Amino acid sequence: MRLHVADHPLITHKLTVLRDERTPSPVFRQLTEELVTLLAYEATRSVHVSPVEIRTPVTTTTGVRIGEPRPLVVPILRAGLGMLEGMVKLLPTAEVGFLGMARNEVTLEPTTYAERLPEDLSDRQCFVLDPMLATGGSLGAAIEFLFARGAQDVTAICILGAPEGVAAIEKQVGDREVHLVLGALDERLNEKGYIVPGLGDAGDRLYGTV
Ligand code: PRP
Ligand code: URA
Repeated sequence: MRLHVADHPLITHKLTVLRDERTPSPVFRQLTEELVTLLAYEATRSVHVSPVEIRTPVTTTTGVRIGEPRPLVVPILRAGLGMLEGMVKLLPTAEVGFLGMARNEVTLEPTTYAERLPEDLSDRQCFVLDPMLATGGSLGAAIEFLFARGAQDVTAICILGAPEGVAAIEKQVGDREVHLVLGALDERLNEKGYIVPGLGDAGDRLYGTV
């Protein structure tokens, strides 16, 4: 597994506002979208492109185009939905699949309650979106889902990660092609499985649920 933790003042600045408990939902949503766009820049570094010839007003030249098969973006509902717009702004030709997962707040085990994905992912580059990597249960289950459909190349973008979650994913995926891009690697999980210092419950903060 390849791990990339962002190290950029623009990202740290936006994360600081995102973490602040006084930040209201509309600002939280806006910042989440901006952060995912910044993280997507790194996450798409190995996106498949094909050469293309074009004419400029001056001459002909070759460039590249993100072509077929289209990348697949998979937000994990609910909180991952808050990252979708920011991602498809950078990858407008991507196809979007969905996984609905909820973590049991007592056992911390995820259950999958919704799935809408192409049947065959064998030649697709997959980009999973979930703001929080805590124990790694949800992201780990999502990654297994995609590999079971034939995916061979999965990149996950998370706004925050805990060391426990990163270690769990690393152990689970072994030498499979998985790339993890984090906005920040936080200190630890608390006794309730929340990331510390974290930002609280990402889904609740995005959607104003109390
Ligand atoms: C949150 C978060 C991740 C998961 C992380 O979702 O968005 O999916 O918890 O925890 P884990 O790494 O320990 O699995 P939650 O289950 O609260 O659902 P929500 O997105 O509907 O709020
Ligand atoms: N899910 C969240 O939304 N926040 C955490 O800190 C951990 C899991």
